Amino acid sequence: MLSSVKISIAASLLIFSAYGSARAQDLQSSDRIARGHYLATLSDCAGCHTAPSGQPYAGGLALDTPFGKILVPNITPDTDTGIGQWTDDEFAAALRDGRGHGGSRLYPAMPYPAFTKLSDEDVHDLRAYFATLEPVKNKVIANQLPFPFNIRSLLIAWNALNFTSGRFQPNPQKSAEWNRGAYIVQGPAHCGTCHTPKTVLGGDKTDTPLAGAKLQGWFAPNITTNSRTGIGGWSKDELVQYLKTGSNAWTLASGPMAEAVTHSTSQMNDDDIMAIATYLKDSGIGGDAIKVAPVAANDPVMKAGAAIYKDNCAACHKESGLGEPALFPRLAGSALVQSDNSTTLERLVLHGNRAVSTAFAPTAPAMPAFDWRLNDAEVAAVITYIRNSWGNAASTVSSKEIADQRALLARSP
Ligand code: HEC
Ligand code: HEC
Ligand code: HEC
Repeated sequence: MLSSVKISIAASLLIFSAYGSARAQDLQSSDRIARGHYLATLSDCAGCHTAPSGQPYAGGLALDTPFGKILVPNITPDTDTGIGQWTDDEFAAALRDGRGHGGSRLYPAMPYPAFTKLSDEDVHDLRAYFATLEPVKNKVIANQLPFPFNIRSLLIAWNALNFTSGRFQPNPQKSAEWNRGAYIVQGPAHCGTCHTPKTVLGGDKTDTPLAGAKLQGWFAPNITTNSRTGIGGWSKDELVQYLKTGSNAWTLASGPMAEAVTHSTSQMNDDDIMAIATYLKDSGIGGDAIKVAPVAANDPVMKAGAAIYKDNCAACHKESGLGEPALFPRLAGSALVQSDNSTTLERLVLHGNRAVSTAFAPTAPAMPAFDWRLNDAEVAAVITYIRNSWGNAASTVSSKEIADQRALLARSP
């Protein structure tokens, strides 16, 4: 009797411990999946791998690259049309080395030059999450590029010139928070994919990280600590507020940044947003602001620009150029307004835009379009005016640049 009780206790202990370890494994893998889900948000995998009104991660979105169109593939676990047959190693090689199924080369429109910094653990967690997605049948032929760019093996040469595989190296001189921020910016959040200037081959100019770059008719501005062309004038809190809500006293996020805010930065946890701000405020890149002399206020173009501004812009942005916090961006002292490249300004003045709305900042004010009202010379004059008033200083903008931007926007709005 006693011994049978003993046996049953032993048996139930056995069962219990077997159950316990299965549960521990479950918990471990559900943690892993949750972490993978969060990493997919940090990395905005959905932003590219989901077509407008398509199923999440089933691909089909057309990405414009300098070399032509690429359709983004299906990365759900469907065995025919997704990555259901892929091994863990193949998944890791796609992310960090730009290798597709069977070792083919991927175009850098997939940001593997940034994802190569991802840690082993983060790649495993992402893999765990993607394996849990609902398989979706959706055949996508990624490569729509014209000859000769459609030849994948050319990417062997591209990679040799432009890509170094390698994990993130922490800087032991800096805090854990700074290093976490550097990791997110350089790795998963791939901020440099948009903000780092590109070579003629479309590779990152590694000597000027985050110094600003043109993409699809927008300009992703300099986000280094430079105090004139970068965000050196922003406080840490202002940077946090921008990443969390898409707006602050300086500006509102539009275009590709509105998407990055909506799908990625506004969903990040507070520690991670703070870490990004800590890193960007102390990145040690950006150099000193080079003093530039503004165009003189009595220049005829400036005078014309001042009159156009008063009639068309001052109602919202104010005569002082100070705008209205979180409603109408401030133009005085703005890095975007003084960027070397005025693409974003041209686009906004011609076509207008509705700024991002997030859960934290739900009203999305709009900038009206002026393309029907102002001619090329007038748009050029008003942009030259805002770039050189209230202490701002930057190069002039020509009518020809406006005509070119008009033509570009007519082709792909
Ligand atoms: C900026 C857009 C962009 C982002 C962000 C992005 N991808 Fe991609 N991805 C692409 C493109 C474009 C391709 C196709 C490249 C090619 O065919 O050469 C691709 C290819 C892939 C492939 C290979 C699929 C195949 O069938 O060859 C995998 C796997 C993948 N991405 C996973 C991810 C994951 C996971 C994330 C987030 C961590 C992510 N991607 C984020 C654009 C993106
Ligand atoms: C898909 C491309 C893209 C990605 C990815 C991206 N940005 Fe941007 N970013 C832009 C564009 C374009 C603008 C200009 C938006 C505008 O004019 O409102 C911008 C604007 C900004 C600004 C405002 C600068 C100013 O002077 O107004 C900050 C700050 C910024 N981005 C930080 C980041 C950080 C940090 C990351 C990574 C976590 C990031 N961005 C990722 C495209 C991108
Ligand atoms: C009805 C109010 C209104 C008027 C009038 C207006 N704007 Fe705007 N402007 C906005 C809003 C709102 C935004 C933010 C939109 C966005 O970023 O998507 C904006 C954004 C901008 C930006 C980008 C600033 C930044 O940091 O993102 C510039 C530059 C700009 N406007 C210049 C002008 C000029 C020049 C005129 C006159 C030709 C003008 N605006 C007229 C409301 C207005």
